Amino acid sequence: MRRGNNITFYKKILALVLSAAVLLCAGCGIKQAAGRPQEGQPDAGDEKPAVLSNDTSVVYDVEPEYIFTYAENQTEDYPTTQGAYRFAQLVNERTGGRIRIRVYANAQLGDENSTLEQLQFGGIDFVRCSMSVLAEYSDMACILMLPYLYKDAEHMWSVLDGETGAAVVQSLSGKGMVPLSWYDAGVRSFYFKKPVYSLEELSGLSIRVQPVKIMEEMIRLLGAEPVPVAYENVYSAIQTGSVDGAENNWSSYDAMRHNEVAPYYMTDEHVRIPEMQIMSEATWSVLSDEDRQLIRACAQESAAYERELWRDRETAARQRVLANGCREIILTDAEKEKFHKAIEPLYKEFAGEYMDLVEKIRQGQQ
Ligand code: GCU
Repeated sequence: MRRGNNITFYKKILALVLSAAVLLCAGCGIKQAAGRPQEGQPDAGDEKPAVLSNDTSVVYDVEPEYIFTYAENQTEDYPTTQGAYRFAQLVNERTGGRIRIRVYANAQLGDENSTLEQLQFGGIDFVRCSMSVLAEYSDMACILMLPYLYKDAEHMWSVLDGETGAAVVQSLSGKGMVPLSWYDAGVRSFYFKKPVYSLEELSGLSIRVQPVKIMEEMIRLLGAEPVPVAYENVYSAIQTGSVDGAENNWSSYDAMRHNEVAPYYMTDEHVRIPEMQIMSEATWSVLSDEDRQLIRACAQESAAYERELWRDRETAARQRVLANGCREIILTDAEKEKFHKAIEPLYKEFAGEYMDLVEKIRQGQQ
């Protein structure tokens, strides 16, 4: 976080950046008027939303009071990154340029774990991360990423948007973080360098996992060997043969071009791991109540925006990789059942005091 009003040098840099943004916008044909909102959104007749970026926010003729940093590890056009830009745009517009947020995509500020640590010390103001990174901080967050927990996406959202989701938010609060909103990340499946058609064939393979205990244990129970690797390094880990495969949703598989090195995508759909937008508690503590409310509201709105983008992106990503030679391996129900059985001990091991809740969710009572 930087307070904008004392730093002359910074003011100069900011002026340069803003002028560059104005020039860029002018080049893109985006209308610009000092002190007035400039649209980064499509005209009513446009079919698709314009791609948002740091340069599509309105440039106001005022000096910002705060300039915040926002870490994102996905690519520029990925739904979560677009959600971040939408968030920045809303905050900027609603404060008339008093609060600016600069989004750093493509893990420019570090991998998810390290950005979350930096956030806890106030070194980064916002992070969008996978809930798996948060599982280490909250047992409740951890149980919500048990494999085969939800029937479908709708079921997961009814849990997250309800009191259980609110309890997870509560459980994460006061640890240097202020959770703001949930983002969608679809459902994850395995993909490999070579075709794998069954649980038996998965046995003995080394599989990249997010660096979190529950995922490592899941891979072991499936008979494979977990290899924790940061998201940004998965492509090369597969390419160099350090791992035989990985697991993720269609959108990430496509965005990170993992299909080029692991073209066999097996739709076992083992887990739904949503994302969260988190704010640093250190930054939160210097804001007025009014600004806090505004930030929460903008985060919620950006989440609705992201969830909408997500649906189209998931379908488009699948189509794109299939058109580029990826082979989708669809498991039979009987084979899927074997996966379900294999991971069953995970429930006992991780549900702990939340076993009743987990059972309720599993039976669709939540
Ligand atoms: C998803 C998520 C990323 C995360 C990644 C992973 O793609 O959006 O933030 O890093 O999973 O598997 O590590």
